[in-house]
Amino acid sequence: AKHLLGIEHLHPTEIVTLLDLADTYVDLNRRTIKHSNALAGMTQINMFFENSTRTQASFELAGKRLGADVMNMSVAQSSVKKGETLMDTAMTLNAMHPDLLVVRHGSSGAVNLLADKVNCAVLNAGDGKHEHPTQALLDALTIRRAKGRLHRLTVAICGDIAHSRVARSNLILLGKMENRVRLIGPPTLMPAGVAEFGCEVYDDMRAGLEGADVVMMLRLQKERMDGAFIPSEREYYHRYGLDAEKLLFAKEDAIVMHPGPMNRGVEIDGTLADDINRSVIQEQVEMGVAVRMAAMDLLARNLKAARGAKAAGDT
Ligand code: CP
Repeated sequence: AKHLLGIEHLHPTEIVTLLDLADTYVDLNRRTIKHSNALAGMTQINMFFENSTRTQASFELAGKRLGADVMNMSVAQSSVKKGETLMDTAMTLNAMHPDLLVVRHGSSGAVNLLADKVNCAVLNAGDGKHEHPTQALLDALTIRRAKGRLHRLTVAICGDIAHSRVARSNLILLGKMENRVRLIGPPTLMPAGVAEFGCEVYDDMRAGLEGADVVMMLRLQKERMDGAFIPSEREYYHRYGLDAEKLLFAKEDAIVMHPGPMNRGVEIDGTLADDINRSVIQEQVEMGVAVRMAAMDLLARNLKAARGAKAAGDT
């Protein structure tokens, strides 16, 4: 493929190939992520129109560890603030001939639109409520390393499903890999049509967690709610916040995940989030660098092959 825009477009074998490559970037002692020169001589531009800590930092680190020239465009200081459109901004950067463009945008579909216009490989770092493919891939790698497999697991995704691109990318990926996916949350935060993805839907958290191998918690995405009814944070925590008592309903060895940023005492108990016997939240962050290295490495290989083929055709 030329771009990584969503999990929707990936075949299960492509997912496995990417995770296997990501695994090779993780040192066995887990203290560091290996370096390589896969992107030597290439330019990577990170363009984040929405806030980010994990995704932006790990894409930057991943590019540097692969030997790319990495530039972070500061949207707050850019001409976007003078009214320049996303497309004009993208075409301006495209004229500087980047090889890889990493884009996060608040509108669903914006990254796909941009990918049609530019001459480089585009990686979706999260677009509105649509997709966050590298998050689902790093979650998959974390699950595979913790559970020893990525199939026939029961995964409970809990919280604000309706506004979450993380939930959407994860349920598509986990479904493709033949897992059982349960979605747990208040009906007002459950999107219409989730049944078409083959998920089971629960309002009662304890019933939804029964026998789960993996419990994935989500943040309330208030910035995307447009006035949707939500309970008070206190009531929400009482009904849908993960704590040690509710976790008893999942399997004894169930792992606890959260993509971050996390709101302690709203969707998850802080002590549980920090419990290294159950929580793999820090491993998720660590795997984010390896997965983003693998994604950019594979796209760079495709880019080099396409350029090689074009050069051969031109001669
Ligand atoms: N999980 C995630 O996308 O985090 P950031 O918003 O900090 O990048």
